[in-house]
Amino acid sequence: MNEKKPLRYDSAILHAAAAFDEATGALSIPIYPASTYRQKDVSRRQEFDYGRSGNPTRKALEQTLAALEGGAAGFAFSSGMAAIHAAITAFVKAGDHIVATRDLYGGSYRFLTEFLPKFGVACTFADTTDPQNTAAAMRPETRVLFLESPSNPLLRITDIAAHARLAAERGIVSMIDNTFLSPYFLRPLSHGIDISVHSGTKFLGGHSDLIAGAVITRTDEHAKAVRFVQNTCGAVLSPENSWLMLRGIKTLGARMKCQQATAQTVAEWLAGQKWVARVHYPGLKGHPGRDILMSQASGAGCVISFTLDSQERVDGLLSRVRVLTVAVSLGGVESILSYPARMSHASMPAHVREELGITDLLLRLSVGLEAAEDIIEDLEQAGND
Ligand SMILES: Cc1ncc(COP(=O)(O)O)c(C=O)c1O
Repeated sequence: MNEKKPLRYDSAILHAAAAFDEATGALSIPIYPASTYRQKDVSRRQEFDYGRSGNPTRKALEQTLAALEGGAAGFAFSSGMAAIHAAITAFVKAGDHIVATRDLYGGSYRFLTEFLPKFGVACTFADTTDPQNTAAAMRPETRVLFLESPSNPLLRITDIAAHARLAAERGIVSMIDNTFLSPYFLRPLSHGIDISVHSGTKFLGGHSDLIAGAVITRTDEHAKAVRFVQNTCGAVLSPENSWLMLRGIKTLGARMKCQQATAQTVAEWLAGQKWVARVHYPGLKGHPGRDILMSQASGAGCVISFTLDSQERVDGLLSRVRVLTVAVSLGGVESILSYPARMSHASMPAHVREELGITDLLLRLSVGLEAAEDIIEDLEQAGND
């Protein structure tokens, strides 16, 4: 066999995440709980000296994250929001300005509208489904472009290559929240985006058993800036959770393929129900921006949102489902049904939600590994009166 032949992505993920321990050959990277390390010679800098600055288990995960998206470096954080905080604050100072996708995760919205302004950083939201809107929102002091695509929860699509060019032409750092598609379906850095962020709590972890975040940078220069915030502010992922996330990543491909196939079946079924007013899923023909997405990503993902015909239907469905779990979050092996207006987007003012179309009749379904028939039968019994 030709050793130089590049591995296919599925094999490459596994080889990155299932790297063995050099010291023992163990097929699982050990958890190193040490907070500090013996220094043989204080005049020499050694790779590991203190747990916040570096940890061997976290390092294995961070190298895997970089490999997953072809980045110069990866960074593991204690949550998705910690990752977003680090990525953005690495590049802004008082007086700077950010342009962000208009409909994005409620926690990111809160960070941009309630937290950063306290430090003199302003944000303008743009409908990034059209790059002209984004260009119009940019100012001389804009330093960061923060995208989310497909957006949470309406699955709106942004042309990420066009936006990467737009930012690069103006010397703006481009970032995308790639949580929804995961590296398995979308590698944003290959389209010119500078930085990708993830809530690792979702598909990367994959089992609803950890809170984590990730940042992946395309260049060493950007990596240096993110590393500074990671070490200075200290929201690092613990060794135990780094190990858990590495284990989750080993099955990323298998989970994403299977969950996406089921999501497609469920979305098509939902679209045929008379009590469902609208289905948002990029795998459905006619979903706005689908062609752009499919030219940049290899899949539509595993998250669907849909609008029902009445409040009674919403309340009935949420109280009657048995196979689906009603909960906050997404990306686990179990199907999770959530209510954006009261959960993920509760931190967004009601009038903003209304403007964006995140109405009280909208539900979001993260499709897991259950049989498609069981999910459909559950929705059928819970949705029909
Ligand atoms: C798209 C998206 N980005 C970021 C986050 C924040 O991640 P975490 O909850 O891990 O802090 C979430 C959480 O729901 C999310 O859905």
